[in-house]
Amino acid sequence: MATITRTPVGIIGAGPAGLFLAHLLHRQGIETVILESRSRAEVEGTIRAGVLEQWVVDLMNQMGLGERMMREGHFHSGITLRFNGESHHIDMAELTDGKRVTVYAQHEVIRDLVAARLEDGGEIVFGVSDVQLHGVESDQPSITFRRSPDGPVEELRCDFIAGCDGFHGPSRQTIPTAIRSEHQIVYPFGWLGILTSAPPSHPELIYAAHERGFALLSTRSPEVQRLYIQVDPKDDIANWSDARIWSELHTRLEDKSGWSLTEGPVFQKGIIAMRSFVCETMRHGRLFLAGDAAHIVPPTGAKGLNLAVADVLVLSRALTAFFKSNDGDGLAAYSAQCLRRIWKAERFSWYMTTMLHHNPNETSFEQRIHLADLDYVVHSRAAMTALAENYVGLPME
Ligand code: FAD
Ligand code: PHB
Repeated sequence: MATITRTPVGIIGAGPAGLFLAHLLHRQGIETVILESRSRAEVEGTIRAGVLEQWVVDLMNQMGLGERMMREGHFHSGITLRFNGESHHIDMAELTDGKRVTVYAQHEVIRDLVAARLEDGGEIVFGVSDVQLHGVESDQPSITFRRSPDGPVEELRCDFIAGCDGFHGPSRQTIPTAIRSEHQIVYPFGWLGILTSAPPSHPELIYAAHERGFALLSTRSPEVQRLYIQVDPKDDIANWSDARIWSELHTRLEDKSGWSLTEGPVFQKGIIAMRSFVCETMRHGRLFLAGDAAHIVPPTGAKGLNLAVADVLVLSRALTAFFKSNDGDGLAAYSAQCLRRIWKAERFSWYMTTMLHHNPNETSFEQRIHLADLDYVVHSRAAMTALAENYVGLPME
């Protein structure tokens, strides 16, 4: 064993969960080391989520990390739901005492958090391999890893390990199957997402339910737009020419009003599968799971990133109480406290997904129920308020 280092909290993964946790703990004087398997360029270049809940925006501002977001983000008062060729505006701000929909891409958040962490002298080791967790049931857990594929094995000794390593990372697998229960739905559809160089076609996001499948119009900047269509998750992106993608987008997104979508060159496209997944428990000994390592939501509710930040806010408070006052109550309550919020976000994401997508395996009865649900939500203030308060983010306790 070449090198042994020590840190109070070893964090695996430099996604939103790991980076927010490192910042939150640093503000309390608790140091961390983040081990990340990908390169900095890869982490900062991966295109993922787009929407931030209001409290996440507020948190970034309170932490002094919101300057570029406030300059370059897009702040919408609501969203449009489109079905049966008609458009219905949901005014989130009016329904939720002024909370807004912020569109600021995940990789921009990551860039801001990585830069600020390194500026603060924080340690993020990119490009590590062979990451393994040890002794999580003891008081001295550790992580072994290599800085480069043929480099020596190093050991990072910690008081606690935060498993922020996403759905495919090693942390969750460290919890014995006998004490871990997993709950999931794999949907029979996925999203084909594109980035296009085009001006915005619409001032706010459009979620469209169509018999040919769901479509979503989102944005990234005045010059770049983000759009999605529902496809078979096993489909090959090679089957989707730009012309075919635009044709589906026009058909699914355009309504009876004569509004039309502006096309542009497509410079990025890919297909993602969709699932709902929750791992209970999120804690084993001195290992704490956070974010996608513990749960996945389908992106229709725009909850994935926000939920990861919610977990680590709870974890940072619990770790702070432990280090400053030797109070372990927060750590003991961590999993149950997070899971209450997670199940509500799972419910909302499942509701938005099943209501808005065309599921070929459903009966005509079930498909009509979803249309009734849409009709209800756009005509009942109570139902619309319920959708809005979930979309902008339920309050953090
Ligand atoms: P991640 O962002 O996955 O970060 C985990 C990090 O751990 C990664 O950087 C990974 O490289 C690292 N890691 C993994 N294994 C190891 C290891 N062995 N050692 C060290 N590091 C490791 N949500 C939405 O709301 N809207 C969307 O449109 C949307 N699109 C998505 C598209 C894709 C392809 C994916 C995968 C997710 C998408 N999500 C979306 C979900 C959202 O992006 C995630 O919920 C969010 O990234 C969760 O953050 P996280 O930090 O928990 O995990
Ligand atoms: C996005 O802009 O990528 C986006 C927006 C809303 C969603 C999912 C993704 O529900």
